[in-house]
Amino acid sequence: FKVPAVDNEPMVTYAPGSAERAALEHAITEMEQQLPFEVPCVVNGKPVKTGKLAKQPIPHDHARHLCTYHEADPETVENAINGALAARAEWESMPWNDRAAIFLKAADLVSGKYRYKLLAATMLGQGKNAWQAEIDAAAELTDFLRFGVKFVEELYAQQPSKNSAGAWNRIEFRPLEGFVFAVTPFNFTAIGGNLCATPALVGNVVVWKPSPAATLSNYIVHQIFTEAGVPPGVIQFVPGPPPEVVAQAIGHKNFAALNFTGSTFIFKKLWKDIAANMDKYKGYPRIVGETGGKNFHVVHKSAEIRNAAIQSIRGAFEYQGQKCSALSRLYVSSSVWSGGFKDLLLSEIAKIKVGSPLDWGNFMGPVIGRPAFDKITAYIQKAKDAGAEILIGGTGDDSEGYFIQPTVILTKDPQMVTMVEEIFGPVLTVYVFEDDDYEKTLELVDTSTEYGLTGSIFASERKALITATNTLRNAAGNVYYNEKCTGAVVGQQPFGGARASGTNDKAGSISIFYRFVSARSIKENF
Ligand code: ALA
Repeated sequence: FKVPAVDNEPMVTYAPGSAERAALEHAITEMEQQLPFEVPCVVNGKPVKTGKLAKQPIPHDHARHLCTYHEADPETVENAINGALAARAEWESMPWNDRAAIFLKAADLVSGKYRYKLLAATMLGQGKNAWQAEIDAAAELTDFLRFGVKFVEELYAQQPSKNSAGAWNRIEFRPLEGFVFAVTPFNFTAIGGNLCATPALVGNVVVWKPSPAATLSNYIVHQIFTEAGVPPGVIQFVPGPPPEVVAQAIGHKNFAALNFTGSTFIFKKLWKDIAANMDKYKGYPRIVGETGGKNFHVVHKSAEIRNAAIQSIRGAFEYQGQKCSALSRLYVSSSVWSGGFKDLLLSEIAKIKVGSPLDWGNFMGPVIGRPAFDKITAYIQKAKDAGAEILIGGTGDDSEGYFIQPTVILTKDPQMVTMVEEIFGPVLTVYVFEDDDYEKTLELVDTSTEYGLTGSIFASERKALITATNTLRNAAGNVYYNEKCTGAVVGQQPFGGARASGTNDKAGSISIFYRFVSARSIKENF
């Protein structure tokens, strides 16, 4: 059999007066009427209520919360791991076409029946406006599932090209021996689903710890997997466990892989913990991670000014700068800066409305929570203390929700703290360089941070693009020319970073699937 042809999910525009806009508004109202939801752990297909309750607040209105969830306790995690291991044999031996059909059905449920409910949970819980939620919880999640099936078909087709006389050589791509531990972030509902679906598609069982700030949307994704036919135990849902429970999963003798998206600090810590546990494991665990970034735009003197400015605004401030790919350091050639770029950048930012993500007029919503609000505003203060100039924004209001104005900082010091450290919020720091210093600036871009996730070059001269390509060899796993550094599309721009930004295994491509299989070579003589 051959899996169906695949294409990217078309995005709904939610035009005023459209049926889709009305359907989404209806789903939000319905969800708001039922608040707060109660979310259990799900182990072996059954809800588990541990009674250890925690809340997922609504970031734009923190007096309310979206759900109360049951935190997994050590007994629940132990049961989840054992149940997953017990489900493994049947899942891995299920014919591949059946596993494929289950995830293709899940994609259809995301794209159809659950689209607006998933968007509502992502908007209310993670502070995304409708279009940002559509990119994530509808389009990208559907794409991850549909393209994922296609990539696995391609993977399984990778067979030895030669057979000796009287023999047949073949490769079986077997799942890993043990369970995969998926630790997933708040900022993309789709990433939570994908970090489970990728290993499960190739026959692995998964224990899933979603971000506390994405509990409800991820619980809905889990329900979709179940409705699509993922058998009990194959993906276990253990929300919000504290660090000791994470340690429990990592310390288990059947731990086979970590599939992680989140902060560099936590990823490094988990890596060290895994190393400390090495002697317990049956094999060498696979460690897959996508972590932080300090993503850049470099605007050459030959750049098209309007495009560079608008793309910079979108890269820095869509979803409040909370995409791991978001722009946060901007290097601009002086003639471009004074030749219209600065004025356009600031006048367009002045028009940005910040407020409830449910209001169609707001380009920006809240940041995710109290710690994020405090951290981001502290960085703005650090920039002021370092003598940098706040060109626009610089203020926050946490009286009702965690709102921070889009902020642009101008610095003469390319090593100033907000130019080099990850902030994960709507703060863009600009450094203006002399037109003749383009090459020197590229060296600076390459060497001034530990990260290597995304970056863009804006230039109309081909030579400037070539110079950048040759200088910035490892400064970004995803490079864009004349386009913002966010918004990688599944199947089009495989996504992942180098250096401290991750293991660069490229989500949205066939590469990532190799990390979750253990190949067995077979030679049969006739
Ligand atoms: N894949 C997401 C982007 O490229 C994070 O923006």
